[in-house]
Amino acid sequence: MIGRALDIGSGRGRNSLYLAQAGWHVVSLEPSIRRLRYASNRAGDLREDIDSVLGIGERLPVKDSTFQLVLCNHVLESLPVDTAGQVVQEIYRVVKPGGYLFVETAASDNGYAAGDINGIAGRFHLYAEDEFVEMMSGFELIEMLHLRLVKPKSTPPSAQWIYLGRKSALA
Ligand SMILES: C[S@@+](CC[C@H](N)C(=O)[O-])C[C@H]1O[C@@H](n2cnc3c(N)ncnc32)[C@H](O)[C@@H]1O
Repeated sequence: MIGRALDIGSGRGRNSLYLAQAGWHVVSLEPSIRRLRYASNRAGDLREDIDSVLGIGERLPVKDSTFQLVLCNHVLESLPVDTAGQVVQEIYRVVKPGGYLFVETAASDNGYAAGDINGIAGRFHLYAEDEFVEMMSGFELIEMLHLRLVKPKSTPPSAQWIYLGRKSALA
C-alpha cells in the first residue's frame, strides 16, 4: 500500500479504481448511493478493494490529518462558491502535513465570463484564475494548469483548472 487516498465526489469510481489499482488504500466519498454502489460493484469485478462512504465534501466524516492524498475531481464547480470553499477547508483538515491535494474544476476562459453563465446558470460555477487561486491559498502550489477543451461541439464548461498542491509539512 502506498498510502491512504480520499476521493471526494467519486461518482462511478473511475479515479478511485485507478488509485486502488496503483496501490493506494482508497476511500470513495459520494452523496449518490447509486453511484457509490456502481463503483463498489466495479471494484469487486476487478478484485480491488475500496472503502465506500456516503457523504458530502463540506462535512467529511473522517478524522483530521488522515490522508496522504485527497482528490476532488470535477465536484467544486457544481457547488455554490461558499460550499466549495468549505470543501477545500475540509480537505485541508483531513490531509496529512506534507500530503497532497489534486483538484480539477471548471475554469472561465476568454469565451465566457467568470461565474455562472447563460444556459448553465445555477449548475456550474466557472472559476476565474484569481478566485480559484484564492480558494486554494492554504496549500503550497506544486503545479497549476489551465486546460481548454477544443472539441467544437463540447458544451460548457469548456476549460478547466488542474491543480496539484501540498499541505505544508510544518502544519
Ligand atoms: C461530475 S461528477 C465527477 C465524478 C468523479 N469525481 C469523476 O471525476 O469521475 C461530480 C460528482 O460529485 C458528486 N457531488 C455532488 N455534490 C457533492 C458534495 N457536496 N460533496 C461531494 N460530492 C458531491 C456528485 O454526486 C457526482 O458524483
